[in-house]
Amino acid sequence: MKVIEYNSSKPISEEVVDLLTEVSPFLITQFEDEESYKISFIANTIEEFENFFKLITKLGFDNNYEINEVVDRLVKHPIKNFNLTEKDNWKLFLQDIDVSNDFKIIMPWSNCTSKKFIIINPSLAFGTGHHETTLSCLRIMNKLRNEEFYVESMVDIGSGSGILSLFAQLVFSCCSLGIDNDNEALNQGYSNKKLNKHLNGSSIFIQSNKPIINRKNDLVIVNISIDYIKEHLEFILNNSRNGCYFILSGMLFKDFRSLKKILDKFNISLDKVYYLENWITLGLVKNV
Ligand SMILES: C[S@@+](CC[C@H](N)C(=O)[O-])C[C@H]1O[C@@H](n2cnc3c(N)ncnc32)[C@H](O)[C@@H]1O
Repeated sequence: MKVIEYNSSKPISEEVVDLLTEVSPFLITQFEDEESYKISFIANTIEEFENFFKLITKLGFDNNYEINEVVDRLVKHPIKNFNLTEKDNWKLFLQDIDVSNDFKIIMPWSNCTSKKFIIINPSLAFGTGHHETTLSCLRIMNKLRNEEFYVESMVDIGSGSGILSLFAQLVFSCCSLGIDNDNEALNQGYSNKKLNKHLNGSSIFIQSNKPIINRKNDLVIVNISIDYIKEHLEFILNNSRNGCYFILSGMLFKDFRSLKKILDKFNISLDKVYYLENWITLGLVKNV
């Protein structure tokens, strides 16, 4: 594989990333690294870059300043081997994640041969699977599957990169609805969906800063913050069916006591508690 990489003070807008990925075979990753963004264009061969440069000149995006700026930068930087042994390569730190012996989250450049995986392209939206709050949600879903919990429909509130929606599709073959209030995150959800055409079920991503729940949902995951949970828990519980499973994440252990007091007011049972570093994630069932 080949790569062109450069640093930029601002990321490429999602519209331009979408457009470029439509007209090229590139995988584009953008990663915030202290003060700047590391931007990488990954392709299989040098010819793919050359063909892209010819195509972009022919298509002519004269009126689009941003596309021309990106292409200008691309031609100025060398095409290098995509080399995961380089000492300063941040991608080395983002390795595949084994959620269990069966299921993996893999990076787009992974050479993992597992059959049961989702691909997540690390980008500006939260959710590569490396953060404790995400990992615990993935592990609880895996556990539920082992316990033969049946999920036909799930909601992923604060969907970010779409990782939890796509993982739910992988383990339950279900329909997932991802909700995020950030438009960039929704675009990332759709880009990652494109990388995971092998999954059964379906995912859609919708912009909203309030929960969207219905009585068909078997599983609801919220990975945002303790404040979001405190504000919306009552609505979520009142609009879901008995037996629905909830995974609540994004909370620090110090918030557990105050959250427990709130949970005790509802007819729900605490089923699982995952504690990673200082973060806790809860699995709860709405009682019949
Ligand atoms: C901690 S990230 C979780 C991302 C991903 N689900 C994961 O588990 O890695 C939280 C996400 O919630 C989104 N978010 C924050 N406030 C929100 C709100 N009021 N409504 C919907 N989404 C929100 C953020 O944009 C962000 O993508």
